Amino acid sequence: MQETPQEEMCARSTPLKFSNPNTPLYAHISTTDSTATSMRVTWVSGSNEPQYVQYGNGKTLTSIVTTFSQEDMCSSVVPSPAKDFGWHDPGYIHSAVMTGLNPSSKFSYRYGSDSVGWSDQIQFKTPPAAGSNELRFLAFGDMGKAPRDASTEHYIQPGSISVVDSMIEEVKSGNVDSIFHIGDISYATGFLVEWDFFLHLISPLASKVPYMTAIGNHERDYIGTGVVYGTPDSGGECGVAYETYFPMPTPAKDKPWYSIEQGSVHFTVISTEHDWAPNSEQYQWMRKDMASVDRKKTPWLIFTGHRPMYSSDLLSVDPTFVAFVEPLLQQYKVDLVFFGHVHNYERSCSVYRAKCLAMPTKDTNGVETYDHNNYKAPVHAIIGMAGFTLDNFSEIVPSWSLKRVSKFGYGRVHATQEELKFELVNSNTRQAEDSFRIIKKAK
Ligand SMILES: [Fe+2]
Repeated sequence: MQETPQEEMCARSTPLKFSNPNTPLYAHISTTDSTATSMRVTWVSGSNEPQYVQYGNGKTLTSIVTTFSQEDMCSSVVPSPAKDFGWHDPGYIHSAVMTGLNPSSKFSYRYGSDSVGWSDQIQFKTPPAAGSNELRFLAFGDMGKAPRDASTEHYIQPGSISVVDSMIEEVKSGNVDSIFHIGDISYATGFLVEWDFFLHLISPLASKVPYMTAIGNHERDYIGTGVVYGTPDSGGECGVAYETYFPMPTPAKDKPWYSIEQGSVHFTVISTEHDWAPNSEQYQWMRKDMASVDRKKTPWLIFTGHRPMYSSDLLSVDPTFVAFVEPLLQQYKVDLVFFGHVHNYERSCSVYRAKCLAMPTKDTNGVETYDHNNYKAPVHAIIGMAGFTLDNFSEIVPSWSLKRVSKFGYGRVHATQEELKFELVNSNTRQAEDSFRIIKKAK
């Protein structure tokens, strides 16, 4: 080994080994349907022997074991990191679905086996069932991860630390029913070990409340692999790592769109990276999904995905996506739209075709309130301020843009049958940088 002039080898320890590389780690949970009576647990281990989830009053489930290999990664003429120097054997990903739970209830579980060891007992909460009154959730995009010590990784997002820490406090308070992370999840981007770092970071959150996700460019995009944007942004992962770590209730592999209802909200979650043209499978699905919403049961319709329709950063908006998909939002009276990709927070008026069709008015507390008893158009919010280096705003303020904040944080939403209240929480001060309400009388 050659040392640089300033460094000199003084001593060498014996090689260190993991005492148990099969230790089950990084459990995260997600809901599988809108009844809130089942919950999926996903975790990793070095062992492919089936393991178990013990939950409720003595119930035991056996895990389904999966993984992915270097062959599953994408590459092109130039080797991708995932296929080449970024590859890291992920071990095995275990998953099991707890059933027979009650909505809005606390349960505990542990995972592992006698041979690989067991996790601690973890307490988690099921979300409210579709149609029940209240839902409290957190939402954000573009978080990533960073080490808490002096170690280095190829791609870090130091802003994610304060955001995670603030959200851990929120979850501890018991006021969070679920979390939505809408794309650009870990930024592993072909350096596969960084998924483990990300899972480690979110574990205090994601093991306790459902961690629901949407796919972003940094999970899926790669040249010539059947996506809308032929960029190398996933580093050759092509969505394989994402889908394995975050199994959502999607129709099939590489069709990462789904809907879920919790409390008074119907969430339509799309992939902006997969074909959304009117003749596409995804477009037909989103139309059918939004048409089927029973607004008496779930009065609020939230549409979410990764790339925005409205941002002051015009280069981040694909006008074809807007032209094709925005009419559906208007037709099906979407209340609120969440996108990320741009790394700041920006809120619109009730906007359609870049024109304000309605403006919010201040309530008695001075909170801007959109009245959807007289629905005109969706409200859009970009929430990509959860960790990646923040973007500044252009000097020109588009007429639809009502609030712009470039600070680290996340969205906190409280939805009842008649009100949807949003706050942008600054993760460093824990103060709300913006808040607004959407109101509508129950039918
Ligand atoms: Fe992105």
